[in-house]
Amino acid sequence: MHIEFLRSQLSAGESWAERADRSLTGVGPVLALDLAGDPLKFRVDAEHRLSVRPMTPGDFGDVTRWVNEPHVARWWDEYRTPEKVEGYYGPALRGEDPTRLWIFEVNGRSVGFCQDYRIADHPEWALLCSRPDAVGFDYAIGEPAWVGRGIGTSLLWVFLRDIVWPAYPGVREFFAAPDHRNAASLRLLTKLGFTQGVWFDEPNPDGTADTLIGCSLDVAQVMGLAGSTSAVTRE
Ligand SMILES: CC(C)(COP(=O)(O)OP(=O)(O)OC[C@H]1O[C@@H](n2cnc3c(N)ncnc32)[C@H](O)[C@@H]1OP(=O)(O)O)[C@@H](O)C(=O)NCCC(=O)NCCS
Repeated sequence: MHIEFLRSQLSAGESWAERADRSLTGVGPVLALDLAGDPLKFRVDAEHRLSVRPMTPGDFGDVTRWVNEPHVARWWDEYRTPEKVEGYYGPALRGEDPTRLWIFEVNGRSVGFCQDYRIADHPEWALLCSRPDAVGFDYAIGEPAWVGRGIGTSLLWVFLRDIVWPAYPGVREFFAAPDHRNAASLRLLTKLGFTQGVWFDEPNPDGTADTLIGCSLDVAQVMGLAGSTSAVTRE
């Protein structure tokens, strides 16, 4: 089921997500389909049960496999062995790092992972991307069978709306910075209502640099300003 409405049809102060939820009350969780243009397009997915649950150490095997999949490895940090995955993500799971780690699920099966954090908690990154007041996030659909089927767009919406938005009341900006060549990620963010901003270089240990594109979501406009009760599963 799809719904679309023009930006001019929004009530004063009403966010895009609130309008969509109001229009499709009772038919199931409402997912962003394409918020890049006018009209804004949303949908209900009756075929898939989409959820986001906390990562545990028991997920490290899947995470290790996923970061070694070529479609992820191309864009991901160099933490490819089980030891490195545990060393990199373990501190957050033990509460030693405020980053929150999550697993994407489709119909109860783990298909990928994501994380969210206050960019200010990572001073080097804050300096590089110049968004110290924003909330940052990273994501991957690790299972190759689920890539390119629209599920990443839907899961990111569930993640941002149900997990990230309620956790940072008052935050005005969500921010991610894909490599400028990562067309799928850039397109996904555009479809969720993000706008592209500044291009900047991230240095690599080998002396090269990746050119990233900062993408920002206007939280008040798209989600609404106040966080609400989290509904972790959209089914
Ligand atoms: C980026 C990622 C999460 C996208 O998830 P996905 O489920 O494959 O994406 P979707 O199927 O929802 O597609 C989103 C859009 O990107 C487009 N797209 C998908 N793959 C593409 C590609 N290789 N090149 C260009 N566009 C692509 C889709 O066509 C769709 O746009 P459309 O609806 O206008 O056709 C997934 O590809 C992934 O995990 N990649 C590896 C890790 C990564 O890059 N993470 C992000 C780091 S910033």
